[in-house]
Amino acid sequence: MMSKKIFVFFVSVLMICTSVQSQNVLNIIPAPAKAEKLPGEFTISPDTKIMLTGSGTENSAHFFNEYLQKYYGFTLQVSTSNEIPKNVIVLGFEKMENKIPGAYNMHVNQDEVYIGGDNEAGVFYGIQSLIQLLPATKSSSLKITQCQIIDSPRFAYRGLHLDCSRHFFSVDYVKKYIDFIAMSKMNTFHWHLTDDQGWRIEIKKYPLLTQKGSCRNGTIIGNYPGKGNDQQEYCGYYTQDQIRDIVKYAADRYITIIPEIEMPGHASAAIAAYPLLSCFPNEATQTDKIPWAGKVHGKEVQQTWGVFDDVFCPSDYTFHFLEDVLDEVMALFPSTYIHIGGDECPKENWKRSEFCQNLMKEKGIKNEEGLQSYFIHTIEQYLNKKGRQIIGWDEILEGGLAPNATVMSWRGEEGGIAAAKMKHDVIMTPGDYCYFDHSQSKHNDSITIGGYLPLETVYKYDPQPSSLTSDEKKYILGAQANVWTEYIGNETKLEYMLFPRLAALSEVLWTNTTNKDWNNFLSRMQDQYQRYHLWNVHYNANGIRKSE
Ligand code: ACM
Repeated sequence: MMSKKIFVFFVSVLMICTSVQSQNVLNIIPAPAKAEKLPGEFTISPDTKIMLTGSGTENSAHFFNEYLQKYYGFTLQVSTSNEIPKNVIVLGFEKMENKIPGAYNMHVNQDEVYIGGDNEAGVFYGIQSLIQLLPATKSSSLKITQCQIIDSPRFAYRGLHLDCSRHFFSVDYVKKYIDFIAMSKMNTFHWHLTDDQGWRIEIKKYPLLTQKGSCRNGTIIGNYPGKGNDQQEYCGYYTQDQIRDIVKYAADRYITIIPEIEMPGHASAAIAAYPLLSCFPNEATQTDKIPWAGKVHGKEVQQTWGVFDDVFCPSDYTFHFLEDVLDEVMALFPSTYIHIGGDECPKENWKRSEFCQNLMKEKGIKNEEGLQSYFIHTIEQYLNKKGRQIIGWDEILEGGLAPNATVMSWRGEEGGIAAAKMKHDVIMTPGDYCYFDHSQSKHNDSITIGGYLPLETVYKYDPQPSSLTSDEKKYILGAQANVWTEYIGNETKLEYMLFPRLAALSEVLWTNTTNKDWNNFLSRMQDQYQRYHLWNVHYNANGIRKSE
């Protein structure tokens, strides 16, 4: 047995070592590949200039100035002269040997801050690190520590999702959300725009999608299937002009938006607008056992959550409709990827539909899983012809994977592992690590779904499963957190579910495993919590306690 005195001695040594280590650490999240804190400081004041030495760097200068204005109340003069004065922030390019774009070098001495990006995004990520070196309280004289950083991302795909169908978020708030992604050095926003409870994207050729499909007459109260209905009409959609504006806003932050148009399931809102999309257009929406607002007039937008049998019928009418919709989607979103959903499609209606059964015989399709595969394959062919690639949830593996599909693994990692072994690209979003609609406390502090997902579990996730060979691991493009909003009805709750787990995710995606350390992350989080106050965002503080 260790004596009490020796034990206290060991604990004291450990505490001293930890505090020495944390003094040398730059409080940057995600942790950079290499970072060294140096003695001395550089002060950013309204007299400091930003000097651009490469074209395209003005975008990052603009972002930095907007940040300074918003949180510290001043901006810096930007110029492109070749003479570098003192008291300057220099932005330029520097070729770096990193396979994944976004690397940068940064050093800070008493006269200047220098950021050299491997590409424009790299400069932008350097600016994000600089922002994290600023004091997290308002001031007009911003002292930052001298330092040297060499940094690059681990994964090419660093995503965050938002479900705007179950609950709608305004254009301004979506932009704020995109800023959260950018400041986490992440590069993809997966925008879930259609589902059973609301169609949220204007499609000019099918105006009823938004006239009818973007409104529900009420929403259940409490957990599914609901202990009442709020009887409030709930509507919202994004116009094409608003979407173009948001796509540009994201691109200025080196973020690609991947739109998701759900098929063949989760299609109630589209079917409410155009009932011929169903195999049973004359059957009214089932509302038994659901607390329902208003009368049922044929097909309705859903008012409760879950999965519904009335799905897209694999008919010529449906495929023409979807091709027209996707044409407008592609014109709005330059992303190579279009997410076509593919999850949770009940097969009941296809089983009892004479049309589907005949189609299966005609095409030699064995079962309804095969019919789902035929559906996804048909859409993939259409999108591939237009130079786009599909992403689908892991159910698209059922009945045979479409030849070029990327799989988003959500029901655990198994779907992603199977797809990687078949040499398909994979994005990992397993529920146990990446679902931010799950609770952050063991005893729910509000209604959530799916279980308990504390900060530490997110932090410890590795998107490359150890069961894959190193060749197979190359198919794991990265990972993403999903924010489903059945039980997230407002911005306050959205932020509470997002922070601080987004910080942990950013480190999963950016930082090599050898540089990850949970205790060190917790110590770097202290500044980040202060920054949440500066940003005036809501967050959950449970994560800083090691266990509940
Ligand atoms: C999903 O969470 N249904 C993809």
